[in-house]
Amino acid sequence: MQQSKARLSGQQADPGFFRFEERDELDYELVLDVLHGRRLGVIFRDVIPAAARKDLTERFWASPARQHREGEPSHYVGAYHWNKDAGTYLDESAAVAEHVRDVIDAPDSPWHLFREGVGEVLGKEGASLRVAEMNGRPACAALIRAWDKEGDFSLDPHEDEAQCKDPRQRGFEIQRVLDHQICAVNMCTEHTAGGRLVIWNIRPDDATRRALDIELTGLPYRAEDLAEFEELRVDIREGDVYAFNGAFVHAVGANSGNRTTVSFIMGFTDSETVVSWT
Ligand SMILES: [Fe+2]
Repeated sequence: MQQSKARLSGQQADPGFFRFEERDELDYELVLDVLHGRRLGVIFRDVIPAAARKDLTERFWASPARQHREGEPSHYVGAYHWNKDAGTYLDESAAVAEHVRDVIDAPDSPWHLFREGVGEVLGKEGASLRVAEMNGRPACAALIRAWDKEGDFSLDPHEDEAQCKDPRQRGFEIQRVLDHQICAVNMCTEHTAGGRLVIWNIRPDDATRRALDIELTGLPYRAEDLAEFEELRVDIREGDVYAFNGAFVHAVGANSGNRTTVSFIMGFTDSETVVSWT
């Protein structure tokens, strides 16, 4: 890592790190590499069986808990911790838990398959994966989303680290992941066109976040500020599962039609524990 002299300050990875590994089948050792900060990201192509992605997608669109706010760029089932106090997030997670399960419990669900696979490789080093909790109350198991925003990006450039610093979430174990790596996981069950994942080689620091007034949200970074950094564009298609270090600024490119994903974030809180949240 080297310090950036650009307008955005932070860390830049060396070229050997800043790349996506691509495979035609699931290889959980590569996910472990992302969790341990040994590689940026990995994408597994077409690994969700056609029947499972169809079933899961149908369950999502039919869910009575699917939310869509006017003017907001997405439909979603689940809860997200971004920019709110921990109690509210856990309340919302509890309220929607059954509906999230109804979607991710589809036969041959990639959510279950992936977590079992990650759990197995973690087991070899004496660690395990579970949903994060606070005072016995679980976080949301998954956020299922469909983007449909017009413009340059359907999800603006952001990073997933700043949101874990919110003092309103003090004592929530996900804040301990800040001492390790943040690994974003996405499973694409429906895709029409566009919606590439874009990642820039900059891992912003707090000074930059303060200057942009996004210290606790990590959103948005401006495209013009990012232009001087190397960027990776990864085409995402139906059936793909991908995992990457969410501390690097990333976005979802413009897409048309539906782009539905099952997602969560995960990371080590100590050498034996990986927790996930949304
Ligand atoms: Fe993200």
